[in-house]
This record gives sequence, C-alpha cells and structure tokens, in this order.
Amino acid sequence: MVDINGKTRLIGLIGNPVEHTLSPVIHNGISKGLGVNSVYVPFKVESEGLADAVKGAYELNVLGMNVTVPHKNRVMESLLEIDEAAKQIGAVNTLVRMDGGYKGYNTDMLGLSRQIKEDGISLEGETVVILGAGGAAKAVVYMCLTEGAGKVYLLNRTFEKAEVIAKDMNTLQMGTVIVPMALEDYRQINEERLIVFQATSIGLAPHVEDVVLSDKEFYKKVKIGVDLIYNPANTRFMQLVTEAGGKAYNALKMLLYQGVIAYELWHDIHVPQDIVNDIYVELKRNVYPKDNIVLIGFMGSGKTTFGKALAEKQNMNFLDTDAFIEEQAGKPIAKIFEEDGEDYFRKLETEVLTRLRDTVTNTVFSTGGGMPLRTSNARLLKEIGRVYYLTAANQVIYERVKEDSNRPLLQCENPYERICMLMKERAPLYERAADVLVDTNSTDIEEVCGKIMEDYGTQHGNRVK
Ligand code: ATR
Repeated sequence: MVDINGKTRLIGLIGNPVEHTLSPVIHNGISKGLGVNSVYVPFKVESEGLADAVKGAYELNVLGMNVTVPHKNRVMESLLEIDEAAKQIGAVNTLVRMDGGYKGYNTDMLGLSRQIKEDGISLEGETVVILGAGGAAKAVVYMCLTEGAGKVYLLNRTFEKAEVIAKDMNTLQMGTVIVPMALEDYRQINEERLIVFQATSIGLAPHVEDVVLSDKEFYKKVKIGVDLIYNPANTRFMQLVTEAGGKAYNALKMLLYQGVIAYELWHDIHVPQDIVNDIYVELKRNVYPKDNIVLIGFMGSGKTTFGKALAEKQNMNFLDTDAFIEEQAGKPIAKIFEEDGEDYFRKLETEVLTRLRDTVTNTVFSTGGGMPLRTSNARLLKEIGRVYYLTAANQVIYERVKEDSNRPLLQCENPYERICMLMKERAPLYERAADVLVDTNSTDIEEVCGKIMEDYGTQHGNRVK
C-alpha cells in the first residue's frame, strides 16, 4: 500500500456484499507497482442508498468506482453518461469521474475480450455457443457482436430469457446472427468446431461436479470452451471440453483484465504487462491458495538446514528443487549445463516448477540459489507457496561455505569478494521474489524456524502445530 497523504486519491467498490472482493488485490497492487498515490476500498451500499452513494462519492472527489451485484443495472440512473457498450449490455461495472458526475463503462466485457485475445482466440466469423442468458451471458453476446462472430447460439434453461436478449441484440444489426434456443435442444446445433462460453452459475465452488450440459457428444464439437467461472480453476465444463480434445479456459484473466482496464480508465495510463503479470500471480494465490513454504536465498543461507528442521516441526515434506531437477534429468546440474546448455536448464527449471506448483502440497521447498533470479521462476515460486528469503551477512555466508569444495561459483581466488559481488546483484532480486525476509545470522534452529512459523501461522491459521 502507498503512504496515505494529502494527495491520495480514493478509488473503490460499491456493492452488497463486498467482503469477499478480490478487487483490492488488483488495484492496490497496481498502485503499489506503479507508485501511484491512490487507494482502493470496498463500500457496502444498500439498494436504497445507491443514488446517494454515487452522489456522495462524487462530492468526496472519489476518482472512480467499481460497481458489483446487485447494483450494476440500477446505478445507470445515477450517471452523467454511459458508454455505448455498457448501455447495450444493460450493466455498468465501472464509474469514471468526469466534470459534474461519472461515466459508466462495462469492463467485464472488455476484460473477457482482452483475455481471449491474449489466449489467441478470435471470434471473427466463428460459430459461438453461449450457455445461459443472464447478465453475464448478455455481455458475452455483445462481445461476440463487436468481435464479428458469424453466428451465436444462445442456450438457456428458460427459453424466453434467451429470446429477449436475442431480439434486443439482433436489432443492432451488427452482422452476427443470434439464435435463441432452449437448453434441451442443443442437439439441433449442426455446426462443428464451436467456441463455447459457459455463462451460468453452475459449477461454482463448492458445487464443483455440476455442469449445465453433460452430454459428451456435444463436447466432441467444441474446439474452445471458456468458463466465466474462475473458482474452481478447472470446472467440470472445462474438464468435459479437454476430455473431448478441445482447449479450455477459466475466467481468472477476465477478472484480472476487467480490473486493469478500469484502473487504466481512472488513471488515464497504461498498466505495463510486467505489473499485470505480478497481479495475476497475486490473484491466483488468493483464489487458489497453496500451503507450501518456499525458502530462497544465497548458498549458505541455511535453506537446507532450516528447511529440513521446519518440515519436521511442521509435519511437512521437504523438497530440494536442485536435487529434484537432477533426479528428473538423470544427471548433476553441472553436467546439464555442460552437455545441454543453460537455455535447456532454464527451460527444465520452469517446467519442473510448473509441475510442482500443480501437484505438491504440504511441503517445505529449498530452492537453488539462482532459481528466483529469473522473474518467471520468481512468479512460479510465489504460486507454489509463501516465499521466505533467508538473509545472512556476507561474512557469515563466507564462514559457512568456505570449507565446501562443491561450490563451483566460489572456486576462485577471493571467494569472499565473489560473495559480496554476487550478493550485491542478487539481494534486490531475492527481496523482490520474497514475501518475508528472515534473518539467519543466528544459527539457532528454534529461533529461525520460530520466525517462519509465526508468519506462516498468521497466513494458515490452523496449520501450525
Ligand atoms: P449472471 O448475472 O451472473 O449471469 P443470472 O442473471 O442470475 O446471473 O443468470 C444465471 C444463469 O444461469 C441463467 O441463464 C440461468 O438460467 P435461467 O434463466 O433459466 O434461470 C442459469 N442457471 C441457473 N441455474 C441453472 C440450472 N440449474 N440449470 C440451468 N441453468 C441454470
């Protein structure tokens, strides 16, 4: 969070409930990353107070607002202007400050559009199927129109709702044909290589086994499936798509980009991709939390000693990433470098980390000293677990490793100087990769493990024994 001072601008969220929103992770994360002096706060607003809240926000010089359930439609009555797309969709999720009031936008649709582009999906001329005909589905229909889809089948349990949307949108005559259909009639779709958007609430955690359409025959015709749900990460709908040979995506990036686009509108800036990627990691960590502990730091900082002790105390497993990579490759890391080259090693490292992220729980990771230096690896480590940077004075590190002849980096005339030089380069990168810094100048295991466990306990309340 930035320091709050006289110049701090307020941005926020109007909704009810708002307690579980992830938007502060996005907006405060971007402000922090860019050094922008604005703070994002959720506001719980009752329906009766909505108009007053918007007016009050304007009078309080609030820079911009997100709007969520149940106010996305009704808020339009309180706005100075409404962007054309938001008007057609009938829902506003972002208020942008203008002279005299706010202008409403729908960045949900824009966010989904940016997500599919990033994933290389084009709707141009395609046959699209949308499952559902609620508010979310309507935004997807409008996106299909703006992106030039050929034909859209709008399938819904309640046919009349699909019919109303189709009629509305067909009058816009943007070149896409919208065909409303009762869900049970899905067999009437003859086209193949469909792009399907799952826009119902079916399959949301904790009802992870539910799916609105379960016929495997249907999924054989699907080349791409996008679920507007992001929790669970891999819904039953997505599983059916991939099992039938298609590609499936959830909507966590839509959540990310609807926020990024709102932020860009409020601050009139472009958020660089580097920061967007960092925020995406933070979102994943919030939505799909992992219970692992990751130790990073220079050689001799105690990753193995403290890591093993910690695993034992916590009743967790211990995994040394270098040893794991050597096991996978069937040869020592030095040999991988020698025989296959550094590029190959880096690729292997990233592959291994991705696999570990997706499979390993309840584990203390001790990582290679060079591993977190690459940004992509640093991001993966944060997705794997909470990251602790074990720090020690250069002199202490030197004392710990000077007798060890297995450290090729230190096979030189003046190893102490080498340590100082490397640490100067590496310390800022380790700090950036870490959630918490832990001083290990003391070799007291109880003390060092105690510091880590204290922090880890605050994150995983009931896990510390
Ligand atoms: P949102 O604004 O998020 O789209 P919504 O407007 O409540 O939410 O829409 C929910 C969608 O999920 C609707 O298309 C709804 O179908 P109906 O219009 O027939 O209600 C669909 N949906 C909800 N429960 C369903 C179920 N058990 N089977 C099939 N569709 C369901």
